[in-house]
Amino acid sequence: MDTLSLTGKELAAAINADTKERTAALAAGMHAPRLALIVANDDPASAWYVNSLRKAAERLGIACERIDLGADATAEQIREELTARSADTSYDAIMLQTPLPAGVSLNDVSSAISADKDVDGVSPLSLGLLAAGLDGFVPATSEAVVELLKHHEIPLRGKLVAVVGRSNIVGKPLAQLLLAEDATVTVCHSRTADLAAVTAAADVVVAAAGRAGLVTGKHVREGAVVIDVGTNEAPDGGIVGDVDAESVRGKAAGLSPVPGGVGPVTTALLMRHVVAAAEKLRG
Ligand SMILES: NC(=O)c1ccc[n+]([C@@H]2O[C@H](COP(=O)([O-])OP(=O)(O)OC[C@H]3O[C@@H](n4cnc5c(N)ncnc54)[C@H](OP(=O)(O)O)[C@@H]3O)[C@@H](O)[C@H]2O)c1
Repeated sequence: MDTLSLTGKELAAAINADTKERTAALAAGMHAPRLALIVANDDPASAWYVNSLRKAAERLGIACERIDLGADATAEQIREELTARSADTSYDAIMLQTPLPAGVSLNDVSSAISADKDVDGVSPLSLGLLAAGLDGFVPATSEAVVELLKHHEIPLRGKLVAVVGRSNIVGKPLAQLLLAEDATVTVCHSRTADLAAVTAAADVVVAAAGRAGLVTGKHVREGAVVIDVGTNEAPDGGIVGDVDAESVRGKAAGLSPVPGGVGPVTTALLMRHVVAAAEKLRG
């Protein structure tokens, strides 16, 4: 079977074109939308990601400011910064970059981000709104998976979807979004007894575990669709996903590439959220 490459570049370009127009309209009215990127780590992969977000923002006319708190920031310092930026009307949006310093969890600090500016949907309020089916910001990566599937016309209603990963920022919110699309969802994790048995029964497999090569041909049934969310550092310094593409290709009907699949759509959606936050905050 030919395995279709479910790329995200075309979809990301369409989202970005719309964002750019909305940004220009906002900038003409007052000033460019402004995003605060809060960083409290010295992780090279995070630095690379932050840099790519800043470039993406710049291309779209969004002002993006990196605020560095250092890798030894305490939960209290991070909360203070998030509270200050939430109250500061010169910022429309806030994004807290992970990883956080050792001993600090996202749950310790994320409630300090105002839901109006929480463009990556990480606060308990945003996650609760999503679980209740109410309007709020949705984690961009989870939203990107659903948008990518829709863009490639992969049906979800009544389909079995296996999500590998149960984090608060990818796996769990994704399960909520898939339920809203009328899919039947199974969420797998590191304690799932027989991962291959669960995923091989699914019509769609989403790999979001952060483990290179975790999902192989034996995890995927003939004709299923596989979305690879993973971004793992490759030995050559590049990035690889969670899916062993070699063994899945020829068996799956579709597979999203890494890089070039979920990643560009995630960034585009995040920037769209920034503009939406600015539009709402400015009435
Ligand atoms: N493309 C993008 O735009 C984008 C954005 C965000 C994240 N990512 C990538 O997505 C991946 C997941 O991110 P995350 O923040 O959700 O990671 P995370 O917080 O580390 O969560 C990983 C999840 O995978 C599960 N897991 C780990 N090993 C497993 C195994 N062997 N079998 C089954 N499940 C396993 C864990 O289970 P337990 O809960 O039992 O520990 C956990 O629920 C990472 O590679 C990250 O870099 C990509």
